[in-house]
Amino acid sequence: MISKRFPRMTAEEVAALVPNGAMVGFSGFTPAGAAKAVPQALAARARALRAEGPPYSLRVLTGASTGPDLDDVLAEADAISWRAPYQASRPLRKRINEQQCEFLDMHLSHLPQMLEFGFLGELDLAVVEAVDVTADGRVYLSTSLGLSPSMLRHAKRVVVELNAHHSHRLWEMHDIKILPRPPHRDPIPVSHALSRIGTPFASVDPERIIGVVETDAPDGCHAFDAPDAVSARIAEHVVAFLHDEMKVGRIPPDFLPLQAGVGNVANAVMAGLGAHPDVPPFVMYSEVFQDALVDLLYENKLLGASATSLTLSEPALQRVYADMDFFGQRLVLRPQELSNNPGIIRRLGVIAINTVLEADVYGLANSTHVCGTQLMNGIGGSGDFVRNAYLSILVAPSTAKEGRVSTIVPMVSHVDHTEHSVQVIVTEQGLADLRGLGPVERARTIIDHCAHPSYRDYLHRYVREAPMGHFRHDLRRCFELHRNLVETGRMLPEE
Ligand code: COA
Repeated sequence: MISKRFPRMTAEEVAALVPNGAMVGFSGFTPAGAAKAVPQALAARARALRAEGPPYSLRVLTGASTGPDLDDVLAEADAISWRAPYQASRPLRKRINEQQCEFLDMHLSHLPQMLEFGFLGELDLAVVEAVDVTADGRVYLSTSLGLSPSMLRHAKRVVVELNAHHSHRLWEMHDIKILPRPPHRDPIPVSHALSRIGTPFASVDPERIIGVVETDAPDGCHAFDAPDAVSARIAEHVVAFLHDEMKVGRIPPDFLPLQAGVGNVANAVMAGLGAHPDVPPFVMYSEVFQDALVDLLYENKLLGASATSLTLSEPALQRVYADMDFFGQRLVLRPQELSNNPGIIRRLGVIAINTVLEADVYGLANSTHVCGTQLMNGIGGSGDFVRNAYLSILVAPSTAKEGRVSTIVPMVSHVDHTEHSVQVIVTEQGLADLRGLGPVERARTIIDHCAHPSYRDYLHRYVREAPMGHFRHDLRRCFELHRNLVETGRMLPEE
């Protein structure tokens, strides 16, 4: 029952109360559940103020990436001076790479506790999308939980965007708990992907709610393309590998929970696993719940999923809303501190599949910075899962930019994941199983199985000619391919 206690406000009225330099937290994890009206009003205010002269920009915190109504509009209005923890917006990326906006690239599981510990300073305002709010401060969130429960606890002032577009039964999926501060933490009692340990609502001190903005707008999540040939081939390798692991008993007969990163490759892998007759029904302990999983649930191939957001295209989301009796029991949405919690990931034995920009011949990987300098999106949850998984699988096409770039390189130009955490690398060329291998064997395996044939000779020669050591690296040449790319637009001259 939506409370009448809180004043109705327009987004513009809210924006007028937000001073230059404020730290503002918005709900949203992917476009799912992102605040929609207030960010647009803030962007309009920034434009209007700048036309008159005074500067206006904000420090912006969210769960992860957001939709075009948030990062795109605020970035295009030059209204973001500082941003954390993840983004996937072209205009914002451009400003970050031009140093017009500071960006703090963070493990997503760390963010709620950093807010809790006060590491990020004070949160002046939280704008949180919900489907309901009660007079005593129960907030029933919408399609993502992300950072919202922590923002509601810590923000000095709160605005609730009540979005009539969403199902009022979303709370049936929500399981919200905020961890106590160390050293008073007990083990988190999640022993199965679908364990529930909290409440279906987030809590806020009602005195801090300054108003409610009513909206009626979809999240605008995009549907995925049908898998292209490269994604499909990568998926085939991953599926065959997991099936073989099961046959030899390294994956139990009832399988292990899966995590799949965002994007087309991950979607193709999930579809491939679902279609494989010998892979048993499984559960997911992941970050986002994506389109391919809706059918898998109906087919009983997927038995249930834990995530922090319903990142579904509008048709897929409407299918879920039309059958909440079914989906409400099979999906659990958690705050990102729990969906991505390292301890739970390790305990459940999650198999993690994440996409990277490049990996080196020893298995270190770069998910975030092209040529070590240009931010793509951010590390997101990949570090939470890669480091703690039962099996950590990294995937990438073997080349980018029509073959001008090899994604297997002598040394990665930025390190997000180290060889200590990575067990398997897969490209459309094949799969490198690195378990138990030392550096020289790792290099041979990765080059032979994963590198594109047109880069294999170069990479083998690099390792062979590099000075002797536990790792063979030639510090004069380790970035030769990257330097070529920056200077000539391709890593190797055209043959
Ligand atoms: N060097 C230069 N450019 C590269 C590159 C490389 N090694 N690898 C990819 N690219 C370019 C592509 O050409 C493409 O460029 P375009 O946008 O101009 O077309 C762009 O990077 C994106 O590549 P694409 O193949 O479309 O990748 P994707 O959509 O599958 O995303 C990541 C790949 C790594 C950017 C993405 O998975 C990511 O941000 N990961 C980090 C966060 C994460 O893993 N989250 C999930 C955890 S739960």
